[in-house]
Amino acid sequence: MPILRDSTYIYHYNLPMKSKKSILITGCSSGIGLCTAKGLKSEGYRVFASARKPEDVEMLLKEGFEDALQLDLNDSKSIQDAVSSLLLKTNGELYGLFNNGAYGQAGAVEDLSRNTLRECFETNLFGTHELTNLIIPVMRKQGYGRIIQNSSVLGFICLPYRGAYNASKYALEGLTDTLRMELRNTNIKVSLIEPGPITSRFRANAFAAYQRNINKENSPHRATYEAMEARLTKKGPAVPFTLPPEAVLKKVIHALESDKPKIRYYVTFPTYLFAGLRRILPFRWLEKILLKAGD
Ligand SMILES: NC(=O)c1ccc[n+]([C@@H]2O[C@H](COP(=O)([O-])OP(=O)(O)OC[C@H]3O[C@@H](n4cnc5c(N)ncnc54)[C@H](OP(=O)(O)O)[C@@H]3O)[C@@H](O)[C@H]2O)c1
Repeated sequence: MPILRDSTYIYHYNLPMKSKKSILITGCSSGIGLCTAKGLKSEGYRVFASARKPEDVEMLLKEGFEDALQLDLNDSKSIQDAVSSLLLKTNGELYGLFNNGAYGQAGAVEDLSRNTLRECFETNLFGTHELTNLIIPVMRKQGYGRIIQNSSVLGFICLPYRGAYNASKYALEGLTDTLRMELRNTNIKVSLIEPGPITSRFRANAFAAYQRNINKENSPHRATYEAMEARLTKKGPAVPFTLPPEAVLKKVIHALESDKPKIRYYVTFPTYLFAGLRRILPFRWLEKILLKAGD
């Protein structure tokens, strides 16, 4: 179905005309969230760009996001306040939700404390789930909506020393696939984005979480951690086939505007490759390849 645009508005056959489509994005302080917020704004969306830290909300306001919101996925009150203030401004409506905010917790599984694992799930899964559950009734009431989950290639294949992140993204994929089936009789469409390596602050933030939560000195994985530290602190892309965040923006636009958004959007060559290998290879063969890729 065609989408007609002018400089300000995006119109779609089965959506209300005469109003800008609104979207809430989490984690807009940097990387994919900031890039998507800017890209969608220039496409004519009313973007509710949110960030965890007040200073990043200030930055977003200065960047021209007059609807910028403070939203910390670890804090239920912050999630509720952000949704309430958004709904006041939109007369109770929201077209799209892009659940993007998350972080990587590096470290061997045996070095993850219960709290470290819990913290990672608080942000990457529970906060996202709580926010989504506040938005679904809004979308049900208006009769349409798009929910887009930023997962990862590590939401369907695993690499060593990414256990917490892997687990949180696998869990997000499970919840998302179930949700989509449960919403099949509504006009609320649910998609997953699965990026491979993207230029952002992801590695810097993962390094900070690693330093905060992993006790290298007492670990049998100490030698591996030293190599991992070099990768996490390397300037520029750490692995081949890294793409800029605009590659994700393109998929988000498709998920928002297509009549039949995809269930999964792969971004970067490694994601396509591993999605294919996962389908055809026996688990042991795949694991050998993943062990090499994770070095
Ligand atoms: N970059 C990659 O290679 C890659 C690959 C696959 C998937 N992804 C996914 O892409 C998404 C965006 O990551 P990115 O690459 O753009 O990395 P990034 O630059 O580190 O951005 C992550 C964003 O999430 C926010 N965030 C972290 N904890 C939060 C919380 N408690 N509440 C709200 N927001 C929070 C961060 O805010 P602060 O600045 O306040 O920490 C930041 O804005 C994530 O879901 C990530 O898993 C990234």
